[in-house]
Amino acid sequence: MTEIERIDQLREELHRHNYNYYVLNAPEITDQEFDKLMRELQDLEEKHPEHRDENSPSMRVGSDINKNFTQVLHKYPMLSLANTYSEAEVTEFYDRVKKALNEDFEICCEMKYDGTSISLTYENGKLVRAVTRGDGVQGDVTDNVKTIRSIPLVLHGKGYPEAFEIRGEILMPWMVFEELNKEREAREEPLFANPRNAASGTLKLQNSAIVASRKLDAYLYYLLGDHLPCDGHYENLKEAEKWGFKIPDLTRKCKTLQEVFDFIKYWDVERKNLPVATDGIVLKVNSLRQQRNLGFTAKSPRWAIAYKFQAEQALTRLNKVTYQVGRTGAVTPVANLDPVQLSGTVVKRASLHNADIIEGLDLHIGDMVYVEKGGEIIPKIVGVDKDARIMIGDKVKFITHCPECGSKLVRYEGEAAYYCTNDAACPPQIKGKIEHFISRKAMNIDGLGPETIDQFYQEGLIHDVADLYILKTSDIINLERMGEKSAENIIKGIEQSKEVPFERVLFALGIRFVGETVAKKVAKSFKSMDALAEADLERLISIDEIGEKIAQSILLYFANPNNRGMIERLRVAGVRLEADEEDTSDHTDKLAGKSIVISGVFTHHSRDEYKELIEKHGGKNVGSISSKTSFILAGDNMGPSKLEKAQKLGVAIVSEEEFLQMIE
Ligand code: IVH
Repeated sequence: MTEIERIDQLREELHRHNYNYYVLNAPEITDQEFDKLMRELQDLEEKHPEHRDENSPSMRVGSDINKNFTQVLHKYPMLSLANTYSEAEVTEFYDRVKKALNEDFEICCEMKYDGTSISLTYENGKLVRAVTRGDGVQGDVTDNVKTIRSIPLVLHGKGYPEAFEIRGEILMPWMVFEELNKEREAREEPLFANPRNAASGTLKLQNSAIVASRKLDAYLYYLLGDHLPCDGHYENLKEAEKWGFKIPDLTRKCKTLQEVFDFIKYWDVERKNLPVATDGIVLKVNSLRQQRNLGFTAKSPRWAIAYKFQAEQALTRLNKVTYQVGRTGAVTPVANLDPVQLSGTVVKRASLHNADIIEGLDLHIGDMVYVEKGGEIIPKIVGVDKDARIMIGDKVKFITHCPECGSKLVRYEGEAAYYCTNDAACPPQIKGKIEHFISRKAMNIDGLGPETIDQFYQEGLIHDVADLYILKTSDIINLERMGEKSAENIIKGIEQSKEVPFERVLFALGIRFVGETVAKKVAKSFKSMDALAEADLERLISIDEIGEKIAQSILLYFANPNNRGMIERLRVAGVRLEADEEDTSDHTDKLAGKSIVISGVFTHHSRDEYKELIEKHGGKNVGSISSKTSFILAGDNMGPSKLEKAQKLGVAIVSEEEFLQMIE
């Protein structure tokens, strides 16, 4: 056998072993034997680069070459499902379908997996592309998806259509999630709130070798294409199973509403034993012909609905309430609880949000309280079991003074939170601002973390963010737990942060309500810190999406001489306070001289992105239709009055796809 033939043989064998292990859960060889074959393949592939194959099993180990994701358009838009928490609405859905179809139908009941959605495209039996949905992660993540062992790179048999898409959910199993968070805790890295965030965060990584180490899984639930084998959604997935896909086998076809409710009731309890997170049940009309009959609304199919489970709750005792002061001075009450098991983790603390919530719950120390996990790490208290009160403890009263610096707390008009306004001297505010400043999305200063910031602050080395830039290696090298190498790294990291672009410096300042997106918009409009510092209210609110609240906060920030002084010190240090010249290399004049109105709901890009695209290609985005309008870029559900006006004035209507072709 030649080496080339051996490569082909190994590829085939390894694909099969992968499938046996990850899809069927029935390995035929040991892990060691598998690794040995893989190494043999990798060695041979290295010797024969001319025989490279994008879908070789060796591609699953990922690579540490950083890759930027390109954006791709979906052939079929990735829509969401209508959601409900109510059984009555499930009945309404069933009745609506029955009435519209006026013939027998089946409902396919499946789990609603709580991960991040993915669309896989296969051509001639090979995985050619993996694309995420527009929100969250965006774009082509093929290299990362190839590391997921249960996704076939090459299909089995012959019965598959020449080209098709299969959609599903990428998930991080509970066990992997818990292990990952344990490791992150040990390394003092921020924890993932839930397996969903962990999965989508992992899929976004630019280094596919790390993705490979995170052990993601995929459950596929939707086949799309022009030449599918059957009319039934369920039957198509059964076929796909034969091609090597991992298809959840919990799916059931139901004929009656009662069967649907039985399924829901069973899985509401039983789902806790599944290896991955689920948050509901999806009901789909099974026949594709009937699905086409029912059609879509602008956002979701009329042939499907998601019934969402109520979040899990636990009952436990409230021992005391403590208060945390954040970087903005906002004071958050935290409930300290008797430890209790909730959705897979032990809960000891819960957020109480603000004084009104405490008042609304009529909370007393010693109360038995219901805790619930939302999307965040910290669970919240949603109720009190008043019948369980035997002896009534002290009523929880919100504090009047800052627990950290003793200043009197204030409450601003229209806001729920109490604030400590002593921002120049209240330790958690000072430290919190510095922590925000150095964080990844802000100045991204490596080697610094909350603990080192605390240490530098305790030692009197830093009092605000500008102090970072006067630190020298000799100032910190002798501190406890600091070595020469880490000291140098920190100073190097600080030095490098002087290259961070203006928009991120602006975000890093931590001005209230100025998050990443707002900072970008403001930086684009003002181009320099000086121009921004001199702006008045009117000029600020003229920026798209900047309202009075954000504008006032910016004005307040620059009205404070301490802040202005600090910015001067940043300037002296060499931090960038001006925007770069814009990169215009991909600009064209394809839309030069055109006035374009945007209207409706879009699938491929957001409205803002379309606005940018128009400007990039020399056009002008205008608000209302007139005889001067060149055309209307129209998505779904364009308003009827706009449509009428356009027709009256003879203004052309251009669809999303046509528009994208125009600027291609
Ligand atoms: S079907 C056109 N089935 O829920 C409908 N979606 O809100 C296509 N999801 O984006 C989706 N489990 O990420 C479908 N069994 C399931 C699902 C499921 C989870 C997710 C999916 C989708 C979102 C819809």
